[in-house]
Amino acid sequence: CGIVAFNGKENAEERILQGLEKLEYRGYDSAGIAMIDHGLLKVTKAAGRLDALEEKLRAHPLVGHNGIGHTRWATHGVPSEMNAHPHVSSDHKVAVVHNGIIENFQAIKNRLMEEGFTFYSETDTEVVANLIASKLHGDLKSAVEEATKELRGTFSLAVLSSDDPETLIVTRRESPLILGIADDGIFAASDIPALLAYTRDVIYLDNDDLVVIEKGNYTIYNHGEVIDKEVKTVEWSMESAGKEGFDHYMMKEIFEQPKAIRDCLLRKVDEGFVSFGDQSFTKDEIENFDHIYMTACGTAFHASQVGKRALEDAMQKEITAEIASEFRYNMPFLNENSLLIVVSQSGETGDTLAVLREAKQRGAKVLAITNVLGSSIDRESDKVIYCDAGPEISVASTKAYSTQLLSLYLLTLDFGYKLGTYDEEAVKVAIEELSGVPEKIESILDHVDDLDPIAKRLASHPAIFYLGRGIDYLSAKEGALKLKEISYIHAQSMAAGELKHGSIALVEEGLPIVTIITQSLLVEKSISNIKEVKARGAYNIVITDDVSAHIDEVADDLIRIPAISDLYAPILAVLPQQILAYKVSVLLGNDVDKPRNLAKSVTVE
Ligand code: G6P
Ligand code: GLU
Repeated sequence: CGIVAFNGKENAEERILQGLEKLEYRGYDSAGIAMIDHGLLKVTKAAGRLDALEEKLRAHPLVGHNGIGHTRWATHGVPSEMNAHPHVSSDHKVAVVHNGIIENFQAIKNRLMEEGFTFYSETDTEVVANLIASKLHGDLKSAVEEATKELRGTFSLAVLSSDDPETLIVTRRESPLILGIADDGIFAASDIPALLAYTRDVIYLDNDDLVVIEKGNYTIYNHGEVIDKEVKTVEWSMESAGKEGFDHYMMKEIFEQPKAIRDCLLRKVDEGFVSFGDQSFTKDEIENFDHIYMTACGTAFHASQVGKRALEDAMQKEITAEIASEFRYNMPFLNENSLLIVVSQSGETGDTLAVLREAKQRGAKVLAITNVLGSSIDRESDKVIYCDAGPEISVASTKAYSTQLLSLYLLTLDFGYKLGTYDEEAVKVAIEELSGVPEKIESILDHVDDLDPIAKRLASHPAIFYLGRGIDYLSAKEGALKLKEISYIHAQSMAAGELKHGSIALVEEGLPIVTIITQSLLVEKSISNIKEVKARGAYNIVITDDVSAHIDEVADDLIRIPAISDLYAPILAVLPQQILAYKVSVLLGNDVDKPRNLAKSVTVE
């Protein structure tokens, strides 16, 4: 997940290592470095934290001026030394570090194996090393160019070859990569913090830029043409650089959602159709489950509840979704014929894991939706679908939630298609709609500052209600949780129709109420609920994609989100709620990324 490469006059090893240290926040489960050392390609790697690699290098230093390094955040293959980067071609000629996902790696791997290449790791990256090696007949640049033409997916790459020992090649598509222009050489890195100790002069590379770096000089190509790029001076401090200029990881991660969703789609959609490979169940298996249970905690539970609605539609039968800490001690009917779906960002949540283990004990099948490859939940489940959100650092979950939702929507399409509830056309239409989500999110993110006055109002109140009906109620639950977690304001989510049966007693002059309205059949009913609280003095903030009804007449503040099918609305409705919670937390001077009393991953029951 973090690349650092150096080619210049000075020792590459120490420059790469200090850069990798600065990128550890991007996630790490192993690390490695390759260098041209006295004309030979040498590689050192280690599982675990960077310290382990540093220790090995202290014992056996690498010496040279041309090298590449990587800290990995596994997407394909467990965290281990074998799967750590750099990956070397089986003819030992090419070494590669990679950030991203090669979508068509299996097809290329099969072909290269026929051609006589051998594979040692479970990663998608290893195909890149062998693919380049298979095209290496002279210069490295042409080989990399040829190889990247065949790659589908996302990548930033740094490549070394013993055949071309003075040369370092870097290139990117969708995954980040920048050049750093230092006095003693040229750096390439995933992110600015890796460079700041040596230079503030950077070049931002664009998609399909390919850079040839030799003896501290660089030439940038794009589709074969030499191009000129402006060198920019970075003004950021080291602190803010890790956050890519955002004040907090949470906001950075909110803004990463379009990319996270694109990445999530990339691995699960093939030629416009959902495809989980062997990580889903067959039609027979799905039909034979007597009951499907879903369990999770916190934000992941809110995603599960939406997933339950979606899956019920696909399966035309009832599904149970229950909070893990409750379910663990009350799951009398879960048995060897059941399917348990667990959702967990970290893959380490104690409550969720306890249910998983009990279910396995009883012989049930377990399908996990998790963001962390190699986590306990990943290892102990029968089938695993990765969220592909990338590392989430802020305690309050944002991009993990939206990719959990998306993964569940796609699973729903897979089950629905296999069971015959949805035909091919319906699945394709749904996937097309989901593919449009990143752009819709971007359009919301373009207007974050519009929410400032609303955030200001919320920040000055001791209590806030979040309302919704149907699926909107589930969105409201996530919105209220976000606000509670980081603002410490009492935020209460309620089914809008239930309010009148008790809690409406709490409504008084000026109480802010956030209502979500996206479910077409419930718009009128929700408007009536708003009128009820308006009559009692509440201040109404409405988040909606509905343009037909007269919501503007009842709303004091209206937050519009792009239109989307009812079932998919939570993936958009959550955005303004995340941003509002964030802004309120900042206004109140709280520690946004590390809120009091909370932990990113709670491993105790
Ligand atoms: C913790 C976090 C929450 C998270 C929950 C479940 O309580 O603070 O943000 O939603 O755990 O975590 P998981 O990693 O299982 O999704
Ligand atoms: N897909 C590659 C792997 O799993 C790269 C992961 C990364 O970006 O760190 O090894």
